[in-house]
Amino acid sequence: MITSTHGLVRDAAAADRADLVVVGAGIAGLTAALCAAEGGLSVVVVNKGPSWRPDRGEQPTSTFYAQGGVAVVMPEVRPTDSDDTDSIDLHLADTLAAGGGLSDAVASRPILADGWSSVSALIEWGADFDRDADGELLRTREGGHSVRRIIHAGGDATGAAIQRALHNAVAQRAGAGASIRFLDDAIVTEVRVCDDRVSGVSYLRNGGWGAVDAPTVLLATGGAGHLYAATTNPAGATGDGIALALQAGAQVADLEFIQFHPTMLYTPGARGRRTLISEAVRGEGGRLVDVYGRSVTEGVHPMGDLAPRDVVANAVETAIELTGHPCVYLDISGVHDFERRFPTVSAGIRAAGLDPADHRIPVVPGAHYLCGGVVTDDEARTAVDGLLAAGEVARTGLHGANRLASNSLLEGLVMGRRAAAVALGRRDLRPATAAAPQVPGPMPILDRDLLQDVMSRRVALRRSADGLAVAAEVVANAPRRVPRTVREVEDAALTLTASAVIAAATARTESRGAHVRTDFPQTAEVGESHTFRLVGGEIRETGFAGVAV
Ligand code: SIN
Repeated sequence: MITSTHGLVRDAAAADRADLVVVGAGIAGLTAALCAAEGGLSVVVVNKGPSWRPDRGEQPTSTFYAQGGVAVVMPEVRPTDSDDTDSIDLHLADTLAAGGGLSDAVASRPILADGWSSVSALIEWGADFDRDADGELLRTREGGHSVRRIIHAGGDATGAAIQRALHNAVAQRAGAGASIRFLDDAIVTEVRVCDDRVSGVSYLRNGGWGAVDAPTVLLATGGAGHLYAATTNPAGATGDGIALALQAGAQVADLEFIQFHPTMLYTPGARGRRTLISEAVRGEGGRLVDVYGRSVTEGVHPMGDLAPRDVVANAVETAIELTGHPCVYLDISGVHDFERRFPTVSAGIRAAGLDPADHRIPVVPGAHYLCGGVVTDDEARTAVDGLLAAGEVARTGLHGANRLASNSLLEGLVMGRRAAAVALGRRDLRPATAAAPQVPGPMPILDRDLLQDVMSRRVALRRSADGLAVAAEVVANAPRRVPRTVREVEDAALTLTASAVIAAATARTESRGAHVRTDFPQTAEVGESHTFRLVGGEIRETGFAGVAV
């Protein structure tokens, strides 16, 4: 048996039964794990990354790399800041405006309203958000927000501070007797379903197959940025949860809405995770200009460089097309004390051989966030009994066609807590079957570079029927084989997720939010979300996910 620095058991043989299996160790997963364990459940967290070590710190979750912060309405704001008067109504209005007519107001309002109590819990767990000399939380602004409501930590290292606080809280609870066990360096290969009810997971770890029996499984696996050659996402963002949910019989929706962040550092020819330049840089005075120094967003939207993300990303793409220059520039000459306020961004710029003191950062749009996902109700429940989803992998109706900046950490936190509440209500259920490791059968697995190239060329910021048809054909011809390594399991997940994204993008014959069709530039008067399922190995449109506005 190996004991990690958490003092937690990390021996696979000891982890064959739990009340709750959490797949993923970002904000949604660890919040759920903490809340469920505090309520007395035994929890196993299946983590694709290495075990957490406070001295090393880094975790390959999207949470860890989140920069800008958490959008939240605070109950009291300083009276002198009349400009900053905020309310849930205003946050909801901004969320719906960014969401392009597909955000579900009825689902969204309670998520936003639960924000402050959830953030307060996070602060109690040790998240050290930045404060002014009077101890008030500092707030910044990002695209689509009409007031400054984004709280942050370590300047632009918000996610790292949250990840650290959650791991510390886990270690503390485990030290006090709570049952949270980590299966680190492991990937879930199947959510097992028996008699239409979840019975646990199968996983691959250190080259061997294992299983955990559990009546409740929470998918908190993050997004799928590695569908693309360049992304702001960590290496583990390979659509695992989307694929697991589809294979278990759940529905997905809104997968065509892949959000491209307007300002990913331009590093020609590089693949994989690229440096994000936080939208908060524009919130603090950064300006987007083309190679000739002209504003990229002037005349495009009344909010200019702080318009919703889809608008700005498209303005950047247009500037690149019009100038023939491969990037635009973020002029940071107006940002006060840039390197102190944005240490993470500054380090990323330096690592690329550039100098923040030049005040001109080359940027391009980069794949950043999956607005859609596994369809859940407002308690994180999917259509499969016992299968929950929270965080980026889930589609709650909050993000619609284009997520409002910094609503994602908030959603992960709120929905992680709700998922734990559901798991607590299922505590007396026993898994339907005994554990038996399941080795997957042959499945379509496309070479990752090939997949990323076709997605980057044909299913990126702008799409057309012709390009989507090419992508669909490439993915449909993926060779079938049995995945035997973590990389191959991820590649199978990417291949299935890609086919779902392409099907959704093909079905949406209009332009809306993050989905821009060059052959259908208009936006339909009434927006609809369509659901998809895996039927006989094929992605099939199955209906409509209601949107209550
Ligand atoms: C950023 O810091 O720009 C990212 C914030 C987000 O994706 O919500």
